[in-house]
Amino acid sequence: MCLVAEDEGRVVGFLLASMDRRPGIFLERVHGLISDVYVRPAYRRRGVGRELVGAALAWFAERQVSRVRLRTDARDALGVAVWKRLGFETVALTMDRLL
Ligand SMILES: CC(C)(COP(=O)(O)OP(=O)(O)OC[C@H]1O[C@@H](n2cnc3c(N)ncnc32)[C@H](O)[C@@H]1OP(=O)(O)O)[C@@H](O)C(=O)NCCC(=O)NCCS
Repeated sequence: MCLVAEDEGRVVGFLLASMDRRPGIFLERVHGLISDVYVRPAYRRRGVGRELVGAALAWFAERQVSRVRLRTDARDALGVAVWKRLGFETVALTMDRLL
């Protein structure tokens, strides 16, 4: 699913989301996944991101999805803070190393 925010016909932000379906061994077989959110710099801090995320959560709720996930860079303190303001909390830690 792709949502766009427009200002007088010009796209100023977008959000990409999908249903994440998992094997039957998991109790929760489906959860929502927000994979990208972007708002043009000139339009930030005006509630556009909150509105996009709110619309995505409503879209999931209409489809009986009770949990929505996303991945964000743990080193990006600002990004983490924005997601917390939008009601998300950290439940997993992804680790990697260079080879
Ligand atoms: C993250 C992003 C989508 C937020 O969009 P936005 O339209 O500025 O967000 P909003 O104005 O709706 O703000 C949402 C909440 O985060 C907070 N917030 C947003 N930017 C913030 C900042 N720079 N510093 C502190 N808080 C911030 C707002 O205060 C708001 O909370 P509140 O309503 O409780 O006050 C936008 O900054 C962006 O596109 N960044 C680059 C791409 C990115 O990092 N995407 C996220 C990872 S996928």
